[in-house]
Amino acid sequence: MIRLIKPYLQQADIEAELEGIFDSGIFTKGQYSKAFPEKIAQYTGAKHAFLTTSATTALWMCLKALGVGEGDEVLVSDFSFPATVNVVEDLGATPVFVDVSLETYNMLPDVLEEKISPATKACMFVDALGNPSGIDKVVEICHAKGVPVIEDAACAIGSSVGDVRVGAIADLTCFSFHPRKLITCGEGGAITTNRDDFVEFFTNKLNHGASPVTGEYVTYGYNFRMAEIPCLMGISQLEKLDAVIEERRYQQQQYESLLAPLGFIAQKADENVYHNMQSIVFTVPEGVERNDLARFLREDGIETTIGTYSQSACQYYRSKYNDVQPNGYFLQEHTITMPCYGGLDVKLVCESCARYMD
Ligand SMILES: Cc1ncc(COP(=O)(O)O)c(C=O)c1O
Repeated sequence: MIRLIKPYLQQADIEAELEGIFDSGIFTKGQYSKAFPEKIAQYTGAKHAFLTTSATTALWMCLKALGVGEGDEVLVSDFSFPATVNVVEDLGATPVFVDVSLETYNMLPDVLEEKISPATKACMFVDALGNPSGIDKVVEICHAKGVPVIEDAACAIGSSVGDVRVGAIADLTCFSFHPRKLITCGEGGAITTNRDDFVEFFTNKLNHGASPVTGEYVTYGYNFRMAEIPCLMGISQLEKLDAVIEERRYQQQQYESLLAPLGFIAQKADENVYHNMQSIVFTVPEGVERNDLARFLREDGIETTIGTYSQSACQYYRSKYNDVQPNGYFLQEHTITMPCYGGLDVKLVCESCARYMD
């Protein structure tokens, strides 16, 4: 079976340190959970980084940090895994879906601008499948109107715009370390920011409300900490992330050169963008039924999946808000994610696609 992704982490990469963790008996709040956020900050160029249990808890905490609640509107990129909008809904705010570009799959800046209202409390921009195209424009538009931007970069570690890495662009950026991502800790997440005014909030709230200085419970809070072993896994993968991305970008080019002649259209990135290729996604040729193609590939032993979801078209949101975004919905129905991992023979996958098209 050709799988969609294989983790880049090997047991041997962390064996020695793992033994050290077991020897010490320190499974939480030790050297690795201190070092991992420091290394994330260093890698992304952000001033501050905080660990969380997932991108979902990171996004939720960011909305809390901005004081989002009932009566507020939050602008949300439509094309994303529903975790993005779920946290808005959970806090009682109203999600306002913003449709996306059929080329980059990201929030359309002019549509966003039209939807900013006096009730807008925040904008959640999604780096669709790792692609940060347009985040610079969205930050500019939102900041001109006093709206803070949370970047859902669950998929985008290692991507950049110009010479600024994702993590140091928006007010708040959230990452995921789920196994479908380029760095996996099993589960896990992080928040980065350049803003000093959020430091106290995250430091205290992520750790039961305790002040790191006095240890006093100065507020109420939560436990969204990551344990030592997952942090060790993350540190190890961060060290080889750039090489992993280079290989994935190479495989994406192979895919594009073999699939474009068949009519497949690759996700586009702006010229100033370095895309980490967390997922390699194509819009299928006109007339091709995506699910039928996926079935054919599966019978050939090739695992694929849809690009991602139109959140406004998910059952709950469709019935509550009745505001399905046409481009997001088109992408949900017509995109396919191709397998990508170290050593994959891309030609095999493309040959199977060609057989389907015959
Ligand atoms: C864009 C986006 N946001 C949020 C999430 C949620 O991430 P996690 O599983 O770490 O909560 C995902 C997961 O796939 C995602 O793709």
